Amino acid sequence: IQIDVDKPTTKIQPTMWGIFFEDINFAADGGLYAELVKNRSFEFAKPQMGWEVEKTNPDSFHFIITNRGTENPQNPRYASVKLNDNKSSLSLINEGFRGMGVKMSNTYHFSILASLTKGSDIALNVSLLDSNGEDIGSTTVDIQGEEWKKYEVSFVCSKTDPKAKLKLFFEGKGMVSFDMVSLFPNDTWKNRKGGLRADLVQKLADLNPGFFRFPGGCIVEGSDLDNRYQWKKTVGNVEDRTMIVNRWNTQFDHRPAPDYFQSFGLGFYEYFLLSEDIGAEPLPILNCGMACQFNTAEVVPVDELEPYVQDALDLIEFANGSTDTKWGKLRAEMGHPEPFNMKYIGVGNEQWGPQYFERYAIFEKAIMEKYPEISIISTTGPFPDDPFFKYAQDELQKYKAPIVDEHYYRAPQWFFDNATRYDNYDRNSYKIFAGEYAAQSVEVCSPDNTNNWQCALSEAAFMTGLERNADVVYMCSYAPLFAHVEGWQWRPDLIWFDNLNSLATPNYYVQQLFGVNSGTDLLSTKLENKDVIGQEGLFASSVWDADSKEVIIKVVNNNKEAKSTTLVLNSAKRFSSKAEMTVIGSTDLDVVNTLENPKNIVPVTKEIKVSGKQIIIDLDPYSFSVIRVKQK
Ligand code: AHR
Repeated sequence: IQIDVDKPTTKIQPTMWGIFFEDINFAADGGLYAELVKNRSFEFAKPQMGWEVEKTNPDSFHFIITNRGTENPQNPRYASVKLNDNKSSLSLINEGFRGMGVKMSNTYHFSILASLTKGSDIALNVSLLDSNGEDIGSTTVDIQGEEWKKYEVSFVCSKTDPKAKLKLFFEGKGMVSFDMVSLFPNDTWKNRKGGLRADLVQKLADLNPGFFRFPGGCIVEGSDLDNRYQWKKTVGNVEDRTMIVNRWNTQFDHRPAPDYFQSFGLGFYEYFLLSEDIGAEPLPILNCGMACQFNTAEVVPVDELEPYVQDALDLIEFANGSTDTKWGKLRAEMGHPEPFNMKYIGVGNEQWGPQYFERYAIFEKAIMEKYPEISIISTTGPFPDDPFFKYAQDELQKYKAPIVDEHYYRAPQWFFDNATRYDNYDRNSYKIFAGEYAAQSVEVCSPDNTNNWQCALSEAAFMTGLERNADVVYMCSYAPLFAHVEGWQWRPDLIWFDNLNSLATPNYYVQQLFGVNSGTDLLSTKLENKDVIGQEGLFASSVWDADSKEVIIKVVNNNKEAKSTTLVLNSAKRFSSKAEMTVIGSTDLDVVNTLENPKNIVPVTKEIKVSGKQIIIDLDPYSFSVIRVKQK
């Protein structure tokens, strides 16, 4: 394999390898968002879902939910407990999101909005119960007065348990009303109050992502327009964010999730902050006036599109505007006076047909007029072999969208075969955002679909093709990102987790190996004068990293035998006599990582010899290798 080190062919975009976040598979509530209480504000379709009433003294209490309707449309419901005499008591148990994962010695912060009815005298004891119902940490809350107030208390947990529950024990006489019952661990990402699960954010940071796309996915569209994602309802005080049903609530019959709602505790401000924390460019995708075309396919009439377009303009103001502007001021009040420097905005997710382009044109005009510096991301809809895909590719030539989002969920062989996909793309047209892709071991979403090594290897081969076409391909992300092992709707997924632990799939390691070895300049990589695109089962690409002064070579060996290969560095430069080689591979193409055995297949790094400008290596059977050679 010959690498022309001294003749870089194009720049690698810093955004090349990124991540795609969507609240699917309980990725947000019950996942990344560390809130432990399910249905904390009683806004689920069934307001008591997640809560169980334990009656100690059946005749002497009542538990009701009141709907304030128009008085408080963002958060209409609250709960009340009425106790009839001094001996009365009542317990409410919250089951969490398939239990609450709690840890020994961790501090837990409990908060509640509450008000006492005049003349009431009620004590509240809060405790965590382990899976056997035993108390593993508790405290009391001293609720006083008729005015609604936020009460905050903390306590330490004495046991690790993945399936704990929260108990509220009310005792006394009178009536107490309450809302926003919340419990967070203290060990969130950066120890932020009301923050994110640190182990999951760390996994994102470790990918070294160039961009962070949010909030989806079909969730942007919603199953109908009422339930579309509206960013303005996800910012400001958490108690004022309007909860809605999640679009993945009932989509797939074999995994219905009637308890899947969006609290928006993880909202647009938090997404921008997270992008900043992990060093990724924020990439929000907005609804373009169309609900999910796989679902109701509801569209807003074109002459009523104005509020949708305004949402896009206001989002740019929220992210980048001065603190003197309405939305810039809100960003500052939320804790970030500095702009987020957002550069990209997506209009629509996976939308297709003339209805999309009619609406897209209006967005494009409005955004370009006011914010010409912003790059708009358009979409081709699903999937490469759909007739609408070709229609979109042609139609897009009429517009100015600099980057277009393409999605592919296909069998591993498709990914091997498509390592050349972008070789013949028009160099004078738009750039590509490979915004959602994942090899499918069997049918998409099937319970038997796994994150096995064959899928990951095929993605690695395909990604060498994305990298080889870095003059056209500007952004790439695997999808979906997260899945709760007990609450998924879609598989495969990059990172799996339960209430306490998380695991990296082989696909994750492939993404990571590209993300941390992205380099700055593309090099030509040839085998017998041809790009290495499957000859002898090999796929390869290489880059130069101007910062570390290293050549980085990526090679996939899709053979069941090891392959001895010579890498030749065509260069006037001199290289260190030792290089670093990281390999992930297995002859068992079905191997997967699990929470019980997370290291079945992981990358291993070793030192290898460089003889002048040549490196003789043995590529393991079915392996992906990354070799870094330093200039002397
Ligand atoms: O990643 C899962 C779904 O696949 C996304 O929501 C959608 O964009 C695509 O169809």
